[in-house]
Amino acid sequence: KTVTLSSEALTKDGYAHYMLKEIHEQPIAVANTIADRLFNDAIADDFIGADAREILSQTKQIHIVACGTSYHAGMVARYWLEAITQIPTQVEIASEYRYRKPVIPANTLFLTISQSGETADSLAALRFAKKAGYLATFAVCNVANSTLDRESDECILTHAGPEIGVASTKALTTQLAVMALLTLKLAELRDVDIKVRKNLAKQLRTLPGIINQSLLLNNQIKVFAEQIVQRDHALFLGRGVHYPIALEGALKLKEISYIHAEGYPAGELKHGPLALVDDKMPVIAVCPNDELLEKLESNIEEVRARGGELYVFVDHKSQHGLKDRVPYLIEMEASGSFTSPIVFNVPLQLLSYHVAVLRGTDVDQPRNLAKSVTVE
Ligand code: AGP
Repeated sequence: KTVTLSSEALTKDGYAHYMLKEIHEQPIAVANTIADRLFNDAIADDFIGADAREILSQTKQIHIVACGTSYHAGMVARYWLEAITQIPTQVEIASEYRYRKPVIPANTLFLTISQSGETADSLAALRFAKKAGYLATFAVCNVANSTLDRESDECILTHAGPEIGVASTKALTTQLAVMALLTLKLAELRDVDIKVRKNLAKQLRTLPGIINQSLLLNNQIKVFAEQIVQRDHALFLGRGVHYPIALEGALKLKEISYIHAEGYPAGELKHGPLALVDDKMPVIAVCPNDELLEKLESNIEEVRARGGELYVFVDHKSQHGLKDRVPYLIEMEASGSFTSPIVFNVPLQLLSYHVAVLRGTDVDQPRNLAKSVTVE
């Protein structure tokens, strides 16, 4: 019996949804995005144009403006930029930025991040910025010749390939790969210790393989999804550079499964959200092997003591005492401090995908949403 695949199935390469295909495309998307741009420990000279290199040398401050998932990419990048290059960086939601009276210090670089390059709020912010006295306007975008590409002084393209699913997955991952390259370029221009740069470059090069590892968690994550699908709310927790990943996990869950979900910095629990925690509240925590692990473990204990249903992702190298206390625990290879937010984000994408499939929502075209918000 021959089964004729619909043309759509062909473009989904056999995956049930574009979103799942795009989650699985992330290793090659990252490899394509860093290819020809990262040589040993240095960033290729033609990573950006000569003028752009001059601009980066003069940059004393960075303003990142974006929406949704792209905003979360900017939030992660800020931790990297400030910790590694000491350049003061602020990140703002485009629709907020464009209506306030921002203060723009001299030699400030304006940077928009956008998958589509057509998001109305981000474009409006860019058009404001072009007249507001910035050093220059840069963009990180997935669509060549998009409006954002054409109207920015410099556009650094991600090479994720077309992203069809409304829920952005591989775009975020490749945006972070580009922001990591930009951080390394700025570090180079500022003579940051070569050992630091070598380590960051090595982490970037291992990224496609480690993302592949986290994709193998799919079946374990499905078990988590079978529990969470019965719930009406969820709380995502992270600290430091993983706080934006908690926000991103919550955004993915809410936008495709319609379960109300919030991301919170774990240190904020006692300042309010702990009141939400009972045995009907799934709490998903991202626990990398970094200096904040101990604090995160005590946040997890706070939730456990109140009967919260914990789902925890830990780095398999970390010495954690969670094994017997957390029923739903996944130990994973999370790579170095630089790239771990990118790696921890992958299981959260799979989690929201499987919950949405179990809920029977339209995973690729969730209700009320559009792939690119071209109207304000
Ligand atoms: C993310 O999953 C959403 N689809 C949405 O938040 C999106 O990130 C936002 O609309 C920004 O789109 P852009 O990256 O194309 O500018």
